[in-house]
Amino acid sequence: MDHFLYRDGALYAEDVPIADIAAAVGTPFYVYSTATLLRHFTLFDEALSGMDHLVCYAMKAASNQAILKTLAQAGAGMDVVSGGEYARARAAGVPGDRIVFSGVGKTADEIRMALTGGIRQFNVESEPEMAVLNRVAGEVGVRAPITIRVNPDVDAKTHAKIATGKSENKFGIPISRAREVYALAASLEHLEVIGIDVHIGSQLTDLAPFELAYQKVAELTGTLRADGHTIKRLDLGGGLGIPYARSNEAPPLPTDYGALIERTVGHLGCEIEIEPGRLIAGNAGLMVSEVIYVKSGEDRDFLILDGAMNDLIRPAMYDAHHDIVPVVEPAPGADQVPYDIVGPVCESGDTFAKGRMMPALAAGDLVAFRSAGAYGAVMSSEYNTRPLIPEVLVHGDQYAVIRPRPTFDEIINRDTIPEWL
Ligand code: LLP
Repeated sequence: MDHFLYRDGALYAEDVPIADIAAAVGTPFYVYSTATLLRHFTLFDEALSGMDHLVCYAMKAASNQAILKTLAQAGAGMDVVSGGEYARARAAGVPGDRIVFSGVGKTADEIRMALTGGIRQFNVESEPEMAVLNRVAGEVGVRAPITIRVNPDVDAKTHAKIATGKSENKFGIPISRAREVYALAASLEHLEVIGIDVHIGSQLTDLAPFELAYQKVAELTGTLRADGHTIKRLDLGGGLGIPYARSNEAPPLPTDYGALIERTVGHLGCEIEIEPGRLIAGNAGLMVSEVIYVKSGEDRDFLILDGAMNDLIRPAMYDAHHDIVPVVEPAPGADQVPYDIVGPVCESGDTFAKGRMMPALAAGDLVAFRSAGAYGAVMSSEYNTRPLIPEVLVHGDQYAVIRPRPTFDEIINRDTIPEWL
């Protein structure tokens, strides 16, 4: 459920008409709903309420300071994967002991930054990383709390580019080598082993792969405890999928996911962490764009929008489907026509949808891409020197620009000219 609904024939974000925001900030832009963000966070928090737990929002999904503050004030921790994300989380007021640091290539500088600033734990992904973490922790004069990310060799049955839990993926250490790697970790003076981490992929629409992975983690917990390790925290990753096509998708609910966690690992007495990103932010955001031209081709009509692949790359990159809806509600039973919906960027990959059935639209009409809150703004670029588009946050009947559109001069002036020119 989200808070983007038609009222009296117009699309609203909570109590604000989308067309009003478009008139004030110009198109294209991203708009997020506070109520939807909070609702999704709370669903996870409540689904785990029977266990000692922390929901660490995977801020890679949408990391605007206002979004982080909204979630942090509701009690969320953060999952970060870079020094930049760590800095963002701290700037949004998240204390270090609510930040977990994931990622396969943490640098010594990033590790030092988190160790000095405060960190809940590092999810370590390899032996060489463990050695660097041990060295830097020694230099800083602390013991670094760690889990080790195990790769359970489970097929997440999702898009190949976002599956992470098979042995051919670069993530974690093979679960078959876990005992050996935990023994190594325990021998390193500046590390404190506290638990196990697993994350098998993103946009999972079936719970079965989670169940397989978490059963393996439960089994491993027993083995590692028998080896003498302290396993008091399980980080179970993120990945629960969302419905991108409302008409035909019904992915599992956070409550079912919570019940699965309780069933598979609840008896172990561990503190549970999860790292959802997409399910919290995805359906809490729209990208709104204006039709520039309707162009008749040889055998099809093109809807040419002012938003493009640099603003929302998921269709070009993953062949992802986003529902696209007109901001003015079509009359009931209105005729639908097929459009290829494209942006102005100079490559054919700049296509959002082919043969998409829509009511007839004209230049100047507004459309909204649904489910664009996660991996939308954060993956955008200034390709074709198209400015990063604004982000807007709605809260009831109020809204605020939470990232303004840069001017052309601001973009150009980031470049510097060498003295020989
Ligand atoms: N934890 C770890 C270690 C991750 O790598 C990820 C996502 C998450 C948590 C959050 O997963 P989520 O709950 O959002 O599924 N750009 C792609 C998605 C990449 C996901 C990468 N890792 C997309 O647009 O679909």
